[in-house]
Amino acid sequence: MFMSIALSLHVLAIVVWVGGMFFAHQALRPAAVDTLEPPLRLQLWVATFKRFFPWVWLCIVLVLATGLWMMMQFPKAPIFVHAMLGLGIVMMLIFMHVFFAPYNRLKKAVAEQRWPDGGNALGQIRTMVGINTVIGIITIIVATAGKFFIT
Ligand code: HEM
Repeated sequence: MFMSIALSLHVLAIVVWVGGMFFAHQALRPAAVDTLEPPLRLQLWVATFKRFFPWVWLCIVLVLATGLWMMMQFPKAPIFVHAMLGLGIVMMLIFMHVFFAPYNRLKKAVAEQRWPDGGNALGQIRTMVGINTVIGIITIIVATAGKFFIT
């Protein structure tokens, strides 16, 4: 019973986090480049991150709490679960770096209308979100298909 709730919350949180990154990187980013001049585009990103990042923090808490709890239910957790934990921690550290470094710089630059600085910060966020999207997809493969191969 508790296992089914934990696994559902775990996977839902991953869907929100990784799906949100995929949408931002693959759909919203190119659409914003095509349609908006830098000042408006940078303001759109600040407004978007302001709404999305609190969800990512919630996802991180849920993924860690449910993941570690499920891990403790195994007498000896399989290798794919350890791989998931390792990759998950890397993703969390990358997100925290984005949140506390370039996102802060982006907010300040936009508030002070320093558009080129904002563009630099946004470029760093884009690179790191791209990396995290790829790690997220790999982790999902490890967690699902991977368990048939590495137990
Ligand atoms: C960071 C700490 C994490 C821990 C400790 C953890 C642990 C676990 C555990 C114990 C399970 C249950 C495995 C089973 O029932 O066989 C699970 C399932 C799953 N995890 Fe994680 N996980 C973590 C992060 C992640 C991340 C970052 C992702 C994806 C980006 C992810 C994706 C999944 C998926 C898709 C499942 C469902 C697998 C299935 O039932 O086929 N997990 N996780």
